[in-house]
Amino acid sequence: MAKTKKNAAAVALGRLVCLCGLAVAAGCQTDSHHAMGTGKQTGQAHNLPGIDCPLRQAGVDPSQLRPFAEVEKYIAFLDRPDRAAWQRPDEVVAALGLHGDETVLDLGAGSGYFSFRLARAVPRGKVVATDLEPEMIRHIHHQATVEGITNLSPVLIKADDPQVPGGADLVFVCDVLHHVPDRARWLKKVGSEMRPGARFVLVEFKEGKLPEGPPEAVKIPRKQLIELVSQAGLPFESEKADLLPYQVFLVFRKGK
Ligand SMILES: C[S@@+](CC[C@H](N)C(=O)[O-])C[C@H]1O[C@@H](n2cnc3c(N)ncnc32)[C@H](O)[C@@H]1O
Repeated sequence: MAKTKKNAAAVALGRLVCLCGLAVAAGCQTDSHHAMGTGKQTGQAHNLPGIDCPLRQAGVDPSQLRPFAEVEKYIAFLDRPDRAAWQRPDEVVAALGLHGDETVLDLGAGSGYFSFRLARAVPRGKVVATDLEPEMIRHIHHQATVEGITNLSPVLIKADDPQVPGGADLVFVCDVLHHVPDRARWLKKVGSEMRPGARFVLVEFKEGKLPEGPPEAVKIPRKQLIELVSQAGLPFESEKADLLPYQVFLVFRKGK
């Protein structure tokens, strides 16, 4: 009896894995697959709802992307296990003090290092993970689909258009701002799109010689970070100075 139950569970799991694989393939399938007569959408072929490919939604043809191996290295770099020792991702998410029903924007999500943790922290809410790099969005979409995470939406955005969802309660930006050339303008756009009362949390590398982080020349001093974000209509609220050894954790809030 126990054996039969085990077998049934194994079969169900096998089916699920199989369907997930098909669904992921269907999500960002190339046109050549369609032309080969595999059906317009795998979802249709299996009488399942289709999976929206976030790249196609943004007008990107996934078949035109560069080889994934190159990007895999960057994903592995962001997700490297020893990062947790100083990035303290669980402590960072805990420090956000989420209640579980919020809408969170992980802006410049990269591999989804924080997005997946944030999604777990808001089981009754949702996380929108955005990035300008299509391969990162493809990676998050694939991972979320395989893991069956339904409250995480990856969205491909343009470098100069942060696309803050109107209902976002929190905009989380970790190690992104020093990549943005016209950051004053970009932050103003973020600020103007956020709803009154919403929080903006910024994590950036501290100045000085550190074992981790970008070169000194591209770091933004803490004082300048506070000025930049405040001038974008997001007044400084608080900071957790001792949370992270190499990064600042600054909290801003849009006035009501
Ligand atoms: C150092 S990674 C950090 C990723 C993630 N936040 C983390 O902490 O693991 C920076 C990410 O920001 C993205 N990025 C840079 N400029 C951006 C912009 N203007 N809008 C959206 N994403 C951007 C990059 O593509 C990259 O994935």
